[in-house]
Amino acid sequence: MSHESQYTLKRITTDDQAKNEREIHHEAEVVIIGAGILGCALAVALGDQGRSVILLEKSLKEPDRIVGELLQPGGVQALEKLGLRDCLEEIDAIKVYGYDVIYYGEEVRIPYPENAREVEDGEAEESNTDEMRGTKRKRPEGRSFHHGRFIQRLRQKAIQQPNVSVVEATATDLVRSGYDDQILGVQATVNGESDSFFGGLTIIADGYNSKFRKEFRIDEPVRRSKFWGLELIDADLPMPCHGHVVLGEGAPVLLYQIGTHETRALVDIPDNLPSASVAAGGVKGHLKNVVVPSLPESVRPAFEAAIDRDRLRSMPNSFLPPTTNKTPGLILLGDAMNMRHPLTGGGMTVAFNDVVLFTELLSPKEVPLFENTTLVRKQMRTFHWRRKGLTSVINILAQALYSLFAADDAQLKALQMGCFEYFKLGGQCVDGPVGLLGGIIRRPFVLFYHFFAVALYAIWIYITSASLLAMPLRAVGSVGVFWKACVVIFPYIFSELRT
Ligand SMILES: Cc1cc2nc3c(=O)[nH]c(=O)nc-3n(C[C@H](O)[C@H](O)[C@H](O)COP(=O)(O)OP(=O)(O)OC[C@H]3O[C@@H](n4cnc5c(N)ncnc54)[C@H](O)[C@@H]3O)c2cc1C
Ligand SMILES: *[C@@H]1O[C@H](CO)[C@@H](O)[C@H](O)[C@H]1NC(C)=O
Repeated sequence: MSHESQYTLKRITTDDQAKNEREIHHEAEVVIIGAGILGCALAVALGDQGRSVILLEKSLKEPDRIVGELLQPGGVQALEKLGLRDCLEEIDAIKVYGYDVIYYGEEVRIPYPENAREVEDGEAEESNTDEMRGTKRKRPEGRSFHHGRFIQRLRQKAIQQPNVSVVEATATDLVRSGYDDQILGVQATVNGESDSFFGGLTIIADGYNSKFRKEFRIDEPVRRSKFWGLELIDADLPMPCHGHVVLGEGAPVLLYQIGTHETRALVDIPDNLPSASVAAGGVKGHLKNVVVPSLPESVRPAFEAAIDRDRLRSMPNSFLPPTTNKTPGLILLGDAMNMRHPLTGGGMTVAFNDVVLFTELLSPKEVPLFENTTLVRKQMRTFHWRRKGLTSVINILAQALYSLFAADDAQLKALQMGCFEYFKLGGQCVDGPVGLLGGIIRRPFVLFYHFFAVALYAIWIYITSASLLAMPLRAVGSVGVFWKACVVIFPYIFSELRT
């Protein structure tokens, strides 16, 4: 029997029969590996479209991780589109209205911009000047929370969706067709025993350390630093309901509340940092000697208490540009396919927006049968390019901002200072960058524009802040600063142009 006639038979079966297919024969239209941020949302969205879905997850226990705790407004909007917004309720989530950037002790508030309207390609962007602030119009909001609580809410939604079967199983291998290498499903360990699950489409969403990615692409994620996480209790933050970015001599520190009493601190520590070497007292030494003095005074007591109390935990900060997958029957999504530095908290926003776009481009109307691998691949090429309006912005911004915020040479430090002074100008100089970061403005050109505006402003300050005598020298040096700005951003722009 051909794939198609098999499928037609399946289509005329009732939902109960589809459920039997899943639970007895382990057959569905889609098998998803990983009930994380992306896998759960996608399973629910596909189930809502009437697809029969098997979702495999190695552990259904509430995860305890230091990732995925701040959801940008652009992610909240996508969750809403997916009908999953109530997953942000009953988890003691905290509203986020924007950022507080603290540069050598000086603060600048960066609220999410007025006007939650999505700016689509080609449309003129409305001006969001300071004069409009303080009016009653609703501003977009983000949310921060305990990752594990949010994941459990998402998983609950998947379990409740009648077209989805969630199975606690660890995927171990892919099932390949004998003659054309098409992927037919997944081999997994369930309760210690080996089992198989089959689908017209297999989706890999097993996260940052994807076991399966390695079989389909040769390049590895690039890592320059790790985030070390601490949980502060009853910390006194300078600006409640805002994410805090602390900049100074070292790499950036993030602080944001994740519950009524809990605040997450993420400390970026570049690989091979001397002040975190064993001789200098390791990570604990670095936290005590370098990080604590750089923090706002009000935060220090809770931070110091956490150093002494907590088990130190870390996660690699990876960069992995997106690629299209060419294997029939298979799709990689989420962190398995694309990662950027978590400095800007963009990963979940990318994941939820990808689910929205995916279910549009591969809806039952567009792609009636996932077995039609040619059509699926065609739609996935469209997916690859169309997602860039949002994701290339988030990816490039995260990497470029990290380079500036972790400045370790004179030129980067000039750019870092220029960036902070640019934010201080307010108006468009704040609304643009934070609109991009929040997943609200989806136009790569706006990023390009602000990045080079920062570079030129940095050069202006660099030259004019010098004494009259040193100015000519600085003018020459400014070429280096401009060159550095190009070196910071162009590799990431090019990485977005790959197929
Ligand atoms: C330090 C750090 C902080 C971050 N902070 C933020 C933030 O504040 N905001 C934000 O938006 N993003 C943040 N991110 C990024 C965000 O966490 C990810 O982009 C997001 O979780 C990706 O979702 P995913 O579904 O691809 O992967 P995950 O959410 O990691 O889910 C993968 C799932 O697959 C399961 N799995 C793995 N292997 C198997 C297997 N073999 N069989 C079955 N199941 C398997 C795992 O158990 C897990 O449940 C951060 C990342 C890091 C590193
Ligand atoms: C489940 O799928 C069927 C089609 O097989 C669809 O008619 C139904 O609406 C779906 N159920 C839900 C709750 O989304």
